[in-house]
Order: sequence, then C-alpha cells, then structure tokens
Amino acid sequence: MLAFIGGTGLNQLPGFEVERVAQVQTPYQDAAVPVARGHLPGDSAAVHFLPRHGDGHTVPPHRINYRANMFALRELGITSVLAVNAVGGIHRQMGPGVIAIPEQIIDYTHGRAHTYFDGDAVDIESVDRFTASVTHIDFTEPYNRSLRQLLMASADELNLPVWPQGVYGATQGPRLESVAEVRRLQNDGCDMVGMTGMPEAALARELGLAYASVCLSVNWAAGLSDDVITMPAIRAVLAQGMDQIHHLLLTAARR
Ligand code: HPA
Repeated sequence: MLAFIGGTGLNQLPGFEVERVAQVQTPYQDAAVPVARGHLPGDSAAVHFLPRHGDGHTVPPHRINYRANMFALRELGITSVLAVNAVGGIHRQMGPGVIAIPEQIIDYTHGRAHTYFDGDAVDIESVDRFTASVTHIDFTEPYNRSLRQLLMASADELNLPVWPQGVYGATQGPRLESVAEVRRLQNDGCDMVGMTGMPEAALARELGLAYASVCLSVNWAAGLSDDVITMPAIRAVLAQGMDQIHHLLLTAARR
C-alpha cells in the first residue's frame, strides 16, 4: 500500500479522485490526521495522499507533527511512502528545476519530536505493536533502496532527467540559511538543503515503513547565485517542477 506525502507546491495531486478522507486519531495530537484515499488517473490501485503542511499549506516545517503524520499512515496499513520535498540546490548539478532522488541525509533540525521511542509509555506501547521493541533503528541507508530504484526506473520510462543521488541537509527553518550556513552544509557534504526531510525519514524507519524522497530544487541555496531568493521566483520553478514530479509519481504508482 502506497502513500504520497506532498510538500510545498504539491498540496494536492492533479487528477487524484478522492474516494474518502480517513480521519486518523493518533496518540500525538488531539486533532485527527486527514489522509485522502483515492485513485490516480488510469490507475486501478488505491493510493493515499497526505499533504505534509496541512490542506491549506498552513503548517510551517518546524510545527508539522511528523509523528502524528507517519503514525496515521501506518495505522492505515501503508507500507511504502514516497515523499516530495522542495529544496535549495547546493551541488552544481542541483540548480533550480532539477529533480533529485537523494540517498543520504544529515539532520540539523532541533526541538522537533523526532522519535517514537521517547521514554513515554504511550509512545512505546503504541509503536511496539509494529516494531517489536527495536529502539535504535538502523539508519545506514536512510532512504529505501527499492523505492529509490522504482523512482529512477519511472524517471527513465518518462525520459525525465533526475539526479539519482545526493545528500539532503535538513535545516530547522522556517527562515532560509545564511551564506556561512550554506558553506558549512557544503563542507559537510550536503548537496541540497530543505526543512522537512527530518525527522520524517527516521520516523518512517522506526515504524518499519519503506520511505524515499523526490526533491525538487526551487532555488540556489543562499550565496550560491547573485539572485536574491524570492517567493515569486520559487513559485515559478515549483509550478513546472511539480508537474514533472506528478508524472513521476503517477508512473511509479503504476509500476
Ligand atoms: N533552504 C532550505 N529549505 C529550502 C530552500 C532553501 O534554500 N529552498 C526550498 N526549501
């Protein structure tokens, strides 16, 4: 069972016919997590869709309840998650408009509820049902290899150029980085920078969900071009890039 997590620029899937919206209760917040179930054009299998920032894109990266979101997907019986993330490009291959399927991640976020194994009885009980008490997950390869291959094969099928590698640096946001921060990320080996990659990827692993990310570069990270980073410029890249990502996800869902 496949779910997509939409990020900035992908609050809904074009053509997605919603069958029902499950309101999933979790131990991590009072409000239910609404997850849409439906069909993509021309595809008979049902898929689920969860917009990470909420329906109206109102929840900023550091306020997203990542634990509730991922738990809700697990409750619905989802086993594979394809997440979409907008990023700033750091590597010279990662200019605006480029789509990447990252293979590694570095976490610079702080103060986010980042684990189900928090010493809290509720957390552990509810998660133990699925994960048989493993508290130190293996995160050698943060993204699921088979899902990454599925994405690459789907891109090939579409003749869609994607950068099949890269290290994602997850920053706290919501502000963008300083030039020195980007230099530090670069020195650390980050190829792209975004605000939502973590703790999502780690929580997926804690729950035993296969997880991979499709990243769209929407700007050069701070200091890497002469242009000031503006929201209108980002939106222009988003519109075109998310259209390509939409096709990529459709193809992946059919395979
Ligand atoms: N930095 C962090 N997150 C981002 C950026 C960026 O430059 N662009 C899109 N998400």
